[in-house]
Amino acid sequence: MNKQSDFDRFKNLTFEDFKKLAKDDSLSQYQKVGFPDAYRENKEHIIFEDIINKLNFQLEDKNGSGVLLDIGPGCSDLPKMIIDHCDKLNFKILLVDSKEMLDQLPTKKSITKFEGYFPNDVLDLVNQYQNKVDYIVGYSIFHYVFYNTCIFKFLDTALSLLKPGGKMLIGDIPNITKRKRFFSTQTGIEFHKNFTGTDTLPEVNHLQLEPTHIDDGVLMGIVQRYRNFGFEAYLLPQPSTLPFHNRREDLVIYKI
Ligand SMILES: C[S@@+](CC[C@H](N)C(=O)[O-])C[C@H]1O[C@@H](n2cnc3c(N)ncnc32)[C@H](O)[C@@H]1O
Repeated sequence: MNKQSDFDRFKNLTFEDFKKLAKDDSLSQYQKVGFPDAYRENKEHIIFEDIINKLNFQLEDKNGSGVLLDIGPGCSDLPKMIIDHCDKLNFKILLVDSKEMLDQLPTKKSITKFEGYFPNDVLDLVNQYQNKVDYIVGYSIFHYVFYNTCIFKFLDTALSLLKPGGKMLIGDIPNITKRKRFFSTQTGIEFHKNFTGTDTLPEVNHLQLEPTHIDDGVLMGIVQRYRNFGFEAYLLPQPSTLPFHNRREDLVIYKI
């Protein structure tokens, strides 16, 4: 299967689709979480380091008392790296995803699994952990939430779990405006030609509705909303070694 058709195969997945992928053992660990192998193989250690850096995780001294929540961990090596890192620091790990996905992850004392869709299905987690969580990770999940759930309900609820000084990373967010900017440049055009192996131009349409897509307006609105609520919020670039860095970005929100 070529890169483009593999990419199309994993476009527009729902929470229900991910359950089926998780149980399909003909798929690789990356395909189970909706990525063609080429996008994740030998890349997850870069993502892991980036997550740890953006959360300033290794600088904290919470040995034995910390809590990390991963919303939508999936089941590839990435959540396992996060779990190992937390175990080294004696952190408690909370995982929220479908039962099918969570079943693929290790079961151990440091981990508490909450089955279902955040936030609607996990009210016990939400009630139990108000103001108690040090770090929240939601990597490559926000575009699946956008348009299915009120994103402000998702973010407001997640942020209500952070302790003062706690940090949340919503990573790997596709931004259609960033994509259009990139593919309007000569660099973007060359990238497209290389990727498709054709001499065609990338399709870039301005001044039209973009249903289901996150854009600059959505992301900047989020930054402004939570700054106005007293948090610090920033949009950050991805390392250029990651395959989507030219059209995705990361959001960090810190509770002061
Ligand atoms: C693209 S995968 C990313 C997995 C992992 N974070 C990574 O980057 O490798 C998206 C994951 O989020 C889960 N998911 C999507 N929406 C969710 C929600 N609202 N609550 C919990 N899990 C969710 C899916 O089941 C799937 O496991």
